[in-house]
Amino acid sequence: MKFRKFGNNEQLSAIGLGCMSMSHAYGVPNDEESIATLHLALDLGINFWDTADVYGSGKNEELISKVLVPNRDKIFIATKFGFTANADNTGMTFNGSPEYMRKAVEQSLKRLQIDTIDLYYAHRIDPNVPVEEMVGAMAELVKEGKVRYLGLSEASATSIRKAHSVHPISAVQSEYSLLTREVEGSVLPTCKELGIAFVPFSPLARGLMTNTLDLSALPDTDFRKKLPRYQQAHQQNNEQLAAAFADLAGKIGCSPAQLAIAWVLAQGDNIIPIPGTKKRKNLQDNTGAVDVELSTDHLQQIEELLAKYPNVGDRYDEGSRKMVDKDNV
Ligand SMILES: NC(=O)c1ccc[n+]([C@@H]2O[C@H](COP(=O)([O-])OP(=O)(O)OC[C@H]3O[C@@H](n4cnc5c(N)ncnc54)[C@H](OP(=O)(O)O)[C@@H]3O)[C@@H](O)[C@H]2O)c1
Repeated sequence: MKFRKFGNNEQLSAIGLGCMSMSHAYGVPNDEESIATLHLALDLGINFWDTADVYGSGKNEELISKVLVPNRDKIFIATKFGFTANADNTGMTFNGSPEYMRKAVEQSLKRLQIDTIDLYYAHRIDPNVPVEEMVGAMAELVKEGKVRYLGLSEASATSIRKAHSVHPISAVQSEYSLLTREVEGSVLPTCKELGIAFVPFSPLARGLMTNTLDLSALPDTDFRKKLPRYQQAHQQNNEQLAAAFADLAGKIGCSPAQLAIAWVLAQGDNIIPIPGTKKRKNLQDNTGAVDVELSTDHLQQIEELLAKYPNVGDRYDEGSRKMVDKDNV
């Protein structure tokens, strides 16, 4: 494994492990294989694990705790607060209030069965709570030893700056992949300037860039069924794009998943992607990305390929889009 510097001299594996799909959003959970995947991550030196209280409504944190607790000193655990699934399961609401956060952190600590969370993110910016107030309350958790580092997810550059003026923000986690480039505008430069790690989520475009995603095989409950990018209007474009990308990966000498992750890694040394998987086979594949060196020529070939298939579709539907924080400058 290769490592990247984080916070106060921490060494995090250059790729982390996104644990969401073990209990939430994609496919059908398989706890036995997920536990085996977590053990393999330890063996491979992947020490940066990502979860959230909302994944499986707490089940993901409980699952992870089974491997986390006996290996506490080897894992840097990140979790998030703020989302709750609506009672009728039709969507999510977000609450970034200090009162809610106080309860949420206690529940996460209990489910994870640990005393301190390494990195605690606000899963979104709540438009009804000033970001300074939210981060001020999160900073209290650091003082109390319940949390070590603070992070934000899908925050605008403006919110990142406001938050960072209250307490150092150590990580910003937002969607970033070959197909989702919004953060290149102001978020990535702001993170670089302020010395904040950027943690790309969905770096494989939710599986699309692996050239193995079969949309017709997804269960109706799969989150991708709701997202524009995975609908019929974009299917032909995206299948052709994924196939051409896999061809290019073959020529470069790696798998498509490795090429997609290596591209994200090549965008900055403060970037630590968290590809998600619940399968050992895929984890093994993704880990190989840290050894893929991309030349300027490779990067150029990737851009040219993407330009040939522009109809990739939006990453979010209207409901999810509304929850993404926007710059007000
Ligand atoms: N902050 C946020 O709002 C937010 C939102 C979304 C995700 N996240 C975090 O980011 C992590 C990663 O994002 P993501 O899971 O949405 O998307 P992703 O990493 O882009 O893709 C995950 C999908 O790709 C499949 N996959 C992974 N490696 C593969 C490989 N080598 N070959 C073939 N298929 C492969 C996985 O299937 P299998 O599971 O079957 O391997 C899963 O369906 C999540 O686990 C979560 O921790 C955060």
